[in-house]
Amino acid sequence: TLSNQTLTINGKSFTLDADPKMPILWALRDILGLTGTKYGCGAGLCGACTVHLDGQPVRACLTSLGQAQGKQLTTIEGLDNQKLKNAWAEHNVPQCGYCQAGQLMSAAALVAQHPKPSEEQINSAMSGNLCRCGTYPRIKAALQNYAK
Ligand code: FES
Repeated sequence: TLSNQTLTINGKSFTLDADPKMPILWALRDILGLTGTKYGCGAGLCGACTVHLDGQPVRACLTSLGQAQGKQLTTIEGLDNQKLKNAWAEHNVPQCGYCQAGQLMSAAALVAQHPKPSEEQINSAMSGNLCRCGTYPRIKAALQNYAK
């Protein structure tokens, strides 16, 4: 059943008439036009849809509107870590780019918690984000450079 779902996304409040079980990925992309968050597998396996819920990385394809009620949702459009974006640009991280919003959101959550992440922390935080182009070494280099 449809009901009013109020979401705070990138600091702004939105009210949608939608099913609380709807994955936030669909609300973001199809209703709100925030298409920076990507649909990869739809099953929690690839990380392309990673967003932050109260600062924690979550999969937008597995998180429902109901679960996001009353929490702060941040998408790639609202990611304000310019230093991290610069590190990505300096290392020319993206190839096709499809997975990169999710990669950046996972990386941003990591450095928010560990500003100087160890290699182990990088590997563990980024292991759920797949990249068909194999940009993993550049992702790691960008994160190591960020930590300097
Ligand atoms: Fe959500 Fe792949 S689209 S994890």
